[in-house]
Amino acid sequence: MVKVNVDGCSPFVKESQYKDYLSKAMDAFDTLTKGNGAGNDFLGWKHLPSGTPELLVSECEAVRDEWKAKGVNLVVVIGIGGSYLGARCAIDALSHNFSKLLGPGDGNPDVVFAGNNLSEEYLAELMDLVAKRNTACIVISKSGTTTEPAVAFRIVKAYIESNYEDSHERIVAITDAKKGALKTLSTQKGYRTFVVPDDVGGRYSVLTPVGILPIIVAGFNMRAMLAGATRMETALQEKSVENPAVQYAAMRNLLYSKYGKKVEVLVTYNPKFQYLGEWWKQLFGESEGKEGVGIFPASVNNTADLHSMGQFIQEGDRVMFETVVNIEKSNRTVVIGEDPQNLDQLNYLTGKRVEHCNHMAQLGTRLAHIDGGVPQIEVSIEKIDEENLGALFYFFEFACGISAYVLGINPFNQPGVEAYKKNMFALLDKPGYEAESKAIRERL
Ligand code: PA5
Repeated sequence: MVKVNVDGCSPFVKESQYKDYLSKAMDAFDTLTKGNGAGNDFLGWKHLPSGTPELLVSECEAVRDEWKAKGVNLVVVIGIGGSYLGARCAIDALSHNFSKLLGPGDGNPDVVFAGNNLSEEYLAELMDLVAKRNTACIVISKSGTTTEPAVAFRIVKAYIESNYEDSHERIVAITDAKKGALKTLSTQKGYRTFVVPDDVGGRYSVLTPVGILPIIVAGFNMRAMLAGATRMETALQEKSVENPAVQYAAMRNLLYSKYGKKVEVLVTYNPKFQYLGEWWKQLFGESEGKEGVGIFPASVNNTADLHSMGQFIQEGDRVMFETVVNIEKSNRTVVIGEDPQNLDQLNYLTGKRVEHCNHMAQLGTRLAHIDGGVPQIEVSIEKIDEENLGALFYFFEFACGISAYVLGINPFNQPGVEAYKKNMFALLDKPGYEAESKAIRERL
């Protein structure tokens, strides 16, 4: 289960103010749980873990088994934003760091991602890989019209259609139940489809087929992830100042509103959690950053980033606080041995686990950053596995809903995402954008 510790903020905030913000967070908790706040038609994610039908999981497992039987060894997952980051985060967190280099592994396909950028080199190099492998594709787009995944899918689809007789069995679409270009195409071509529920926004969709299918196909235990998320769902239903989501939402809003802490840095101490930072940034950034307010979410992956961003965090502009994701136990053990020469002068660590050093680096950094004026919130899980990851996803989603309501913001829309699209369509001369094309060219 996820635990929150806000002691690292005590030197910076008044206890009475924290109590005040806990009470605001409890009101926001009511708004979220009663479903009477802004954006309340997008609350389907709240009961996803407990409400996910067994049939959905077994249908996704059937896709995995069928592709394995065909010898598929590469699955291209196409999607962007909320249609990508949850699966990427989970698969990165759960995979062996060097799985792609270890050679033939456990019989699960390699999963790679596309449609999350418009880099021509990326797509060309993806196709170099696709051409060498036995490939299948999962294309994910709720709207079915997002440019980046549509471009990538057009290219991957053309390859699969020209190279495999069973092409329609190698493409699965995850999209709206009824509408959109991807739904229409899937019906025409006979692709299997899974549904992104109407009442779940992209960044809250990791526990829908958007995350479930890629995570299962990559060989991970989605049942355990859903079980962890369900336990968290149950634990967070209690309206209490002990509720970790209430505590997290209260403290981050207090730091922002009363102490000018406009940047929150999510800090992780395991390379497998790099994409947790990316997923979390989208969740909080897209949920809260609107109407001229919001905490800017940033992330670092330590100890690597202690040798780069560590300088700024220690001594730069005091605008930030940190939320440290603490992993209590490592899944593997490496003990530092003795070296008779001791030229590196590390013999004082003989017999110590590397994880002990990692924890001491984390503790030392915590104290240094607090001394340097950076408040610390700690979010702890026991270890990196499916169950804890499911709990962590649900925790952050629930806390984000509460936090945005404390801020007075609708957590479930993203009107600002449209501005770049409008300009890009105008510049690409998309039909229907003639007036915008003319106007934008006059500005150049
Ligand atoms: O959170 C969101 O809503 C966005 O990040 C979307 O997920 C993203 O823009 C992709 O949209 P779609 O799934 O419609 O292609």
